[in-house]
Amino acid sequence: MRVTIFGTGYVGLVTGTCLADVGHDVVCVDIDQAKVDGLNNGVIPIYEPGLEPMVKANHAVGRLSFTSDAPSAIAHGDVIFIAVGTPPDEDGSADLKYVLAVARTIGQHLERPAVVVNKSTVPVGTADKVRATIAGELAARNADIAFEVASNPEFLKEGDAVNDCMRPDRIVIGATSPVAVEKLKRLYAPFNRNHERIVVMDVRSAELTKYAANAMLATKISFMNEIANIAERVGADVEMVRQGIGSDPRIGWHFIYPGAGYGGSCFPKDVQALAKTSQQHGYRAELLGAVESVNDRQKGHLFELIGRHFGADLSGKTFAVWGLAFKPNTDDMREASSRRLLQQLWDAGAKVRAYDPEATAEAQRIFGERDDLVLCDSARAALADADALVVVTEWKQFRSPDFQRLRQSLADAVIFDGRNLYHPDEVEAAGLAYYGIGRGR
Ligand code: UGA
Repeated sequence: MRVTIFGTGYVGLVTGTCLADVGHDVVCVDIDQAKVDGLNNGVIPIYEPGLEPMVKANHAVGRLSFTSDAPSAIAHGDVIFIAVGTPPDEDGSADLKYVLAVARTIGQHLERPAVVVNKSTVPVGTADKVRATIAGELAARNADIAFEVASNPEFLKEGDAVNDCMRPDRIVIGATSPVAVEKLKRLYAPFNRNHERIVVMDVRSAELTKYAANAMLATKISFMNEIANIAERVGADVEMVRQGIGSDPRIGWHFIYPGAGYGGSCFPKDVQALAKTSQQHGYRAELLGAVESVNDRQKGHLFELIGRHFGADLSGKTFAVWGLAFKPNTDDMREASSRRLLQQLWDAGAKVRAYDPEATAEAQRIFGERDDLVLCDSARAALADADALVVVTEWKQFRSPDFQRLRQSLADAVIFDGRNLYHPDEVEAAGLAYYGIGRGR
């Protein structure tokens, strides 16, 4: 099938590449000419495992191309995806200006029937706005062209996006007309193998499904962080509690890891946006507010533990920080817990030596040159002249350090483990002090 995708961000690029990989003919459109030129020359703007070779291979055989020419891209697609960003507005609701700008462009240039599909995470009711916008533009030029607007939310995880896209656990199609449903089923048929993964529903339910999924996952995390904070106070170990509850299939093993708080471009923004939507409909979503405030407090928890050990004044202290990305296998630092921690350390007079396997360039862009930050090129280099180690992101390579060597390197011989990677007994046996999340025993 012929597919057009607006937006070569994370969602658009991964989706477009995977659709091309199973044989569809995909054109990706972006207004950023430099990005388009880069992509046509094999420069991938994001770090995502497995993506680069797939982009290059599909581009080379002509199934995947990139352009800033919207009219020709609109002429190409039987299915036209909108996968542009929906950044949070000042009040926390999702800002639809990019989505609606694409809808206007589609309305201005559509010449034949098409299915327009919202893939961006958008508030319930947005498909209606997109439909009205396209219809308005068509009417303005007296064009009588049939089109449908469907919702098809994405459930990709950064760092595992190609896999999620190629082997989805579900494909949610929000559409009412049989023509749109049929087209999308045909488009996704190569991913719908072995058992039925496609769930067809009305548009508003599909839009809400996306928010419900992310809000549920964020709730699990905040819940565990809350239990961790209780564990710390009552002298229990949340890691034991986690193991004690995860085997119940109704709870499950996934997403019950306490830590330094959730970050990224999705959970913080989506929890807020859903709360806002519900408020706009006259309902105060109590739980969502609590999920957000627990997370906000949790992002300050590592610093609280540091204060417990060192006191409030950290001038003259240097902290080795392992991990800056909001989670492993990405260079993304949006809403990352590391950002809060570094600011708190600097405000208290400390210096930071940080190492992240992928996010160094991003950290440089965010923080610029400053005297109290050294971005190191290895985990070991970050330890030089440091008083303490703080682990913020659970990259695999941080899982099994030589604790004896750590004790020798760190002037104060103390580890703050923001992701509970280590066993307190093992760390303490090596002569280091240990602080984890919710490990009060
Ligand atoms: C999330 C969802 O997992 C995807 O299903 C969804 O499609 C995506 O948002 C989106 O809306 O686009 P992502 O933001 O890439 O994906 O990251 P996650 O792997 O979900 O991690 C989010 C945060 O939660 C990270 O900061 C991670 O460290 C934290 N986390 C995760 C925990 O603190 N504990 C856990 O048990 C799991």
